[in-house]
Amino acid sequence: MKIAVIGMGYVGLVTAVGLAESGHSVIGIDINFEKLSRLRKGDPPIYEEGLAGLLNISLTNGRLRFSSRLSESLLECEIFFIAVGTPSDSEGKADLTFVNKAVNEIAALANRPIIIVMKSTVPPGTGRWIQNQLRKISKVRISYVSCPEFLREGTAIFDYFHPSRIIIGSDDSKIAEQVSEIWDEVECEKVVTDIESAEMIKYAANAFLATKISFINEIANLCERVGAQVDDVAKGIGLDPRISPQFLKAGIGWGGSCFPKDVRALQQVANGYATNLQILSAVISINQNQRLVIIQKLKKYLNDLRGKTIAVLGLTFKPNTDDVRESAALDIIRLLMKNGANPRAYDPMGGENAKKEILSLLVCKSAASALNRVHACVLVTEWSEFYHIPWNEMKKNFIARPIVIDGRNMLDHKEMSAMGYIIDGIGRPNGGVSASSLKIIHSTP
Ligand code: UDX
Repeated sequence: MKIAVIGMGYVGLVTAVGLAESGHSVIGIDINFEKLSRLRKGDPPIYEEGLAGLLNISLTNGRLRFSSRLSESLLECEIFFIAVGTPSDSEGKADLTFVNKAVNEIAALANRPIIIVMKSTVPPGTGRWIQNQLRKISKVRISYVSCPEFLREGTAIFDYFHPSRIIIGSDDSKIAEQVSEIWDEVECEKVVTDIESAEMIKYAANAFLATKISFINEIANLCERVGAQVDDVAKGIGLDPRISPQFLKAGIGWGGSCFPKDVRALQQVANGYATNLQILSAVISINQNQRLVIIQKLKKYLNDLRGKTIAVLGLTFKPNTDDVRESAALDIIRLLMKNGANPRAYDPMGGENAKKEILSLLVCKSAASALNRVHACVLVTEWSEFYHIPWNEMKKNFIARPIVIDGRNMLDHKEMSAMGYIIDGIGRPNGGVSASSLKIIHSTP
């Protein structure tokens, strides 16, 4: 099929490359000339494993090309994916400026029946409104399909080819079938719903996952008081298939380009219907509190943070990405600065992006240089590199007692204690050592 993808951000670019790899003929459209010139050279503006390789393959075989002109794609494409940003506005609502611009441009230029597939995350009700607008302003039939995206950063290419499901929200079964055929070779359940349900699925999925993490974080804080180990508790409850072990990793809380924005937007959707989603207020406030937990823990060991040098290992919102949007690391660094401490950070990929967010941030070139002459270290992102830090050697770099706050429960606390570290995680009292470890006895079938 001939497909145009509007918006070469995270979702748009991965989708364009994935569609081209599956054999479709794709035009990637964006208004940013610098981005387009990098893409034409096969140089993706974001880091994502496997993306550069597939981009170069599709450029070479000619299945993917880039343009700044929507008019060009309207001459040949039948399907238009919209994957532009829907950032939070000042109230937390999804800002639909870019979505509306794209829809209006398509409607003004279309001269034969086409299909719009909405990949951008938009509040329930948006699709219906757009559909009504299209009927009023367009001379030709423009069908509208809501097709929310569930890609995870860091594994987006894998997720594109192995999705847990594909949601197709449409009022027209023939159009839904036509859109479903785009992913004929992708094996997964394709769920056809009405437009509002498809839009709601996206928000409900992200809100549920954020709730799961906030839940385990609140349990972790209680674990510290009652003397339980949250990792054991998570394992013990996650073995129940109704709960599942995923997204039960306690830590400094969730961040990134989706969860914070989508949870806020869903709250605003509810407010718009004079409804208060009480659970989401709690989920957000627990998440904000997790950042403070780190500061409280540092104060427990260092008393006053004024003038104290703190190594912050990790700046991205999760490993294997260079994305620092709404990263817990940036919140923690700002809190450290507010408390008069001198944070000194290192991240394998996120340093440049973090410096754009916090201009005065000192970013080191390696974990070892960030750990040189510090009062304490905070582990913020679970990059695999941090497991391999020669912690035994690093001990001498601490100005006084070697203190490590493990914000992701990634290190072996027993081992760190044996090396002489003061190590403190999230929901891991007694140095992370359980009174009696949870034993898993595998029964024979
Ligand atoms: C998320 C959704 O998973 C994806 O389906 C959607 O399309 C976009 O939003 P992503 O933002 O890439 O994907 O990150 P994800 O892997 O879901 O992690 C989000 C945040 O939660 C990260 O900050 C991560 O560190 C944190 N997290 C995740 C936890 O703190 N504990 C967990 O157990 C899992």
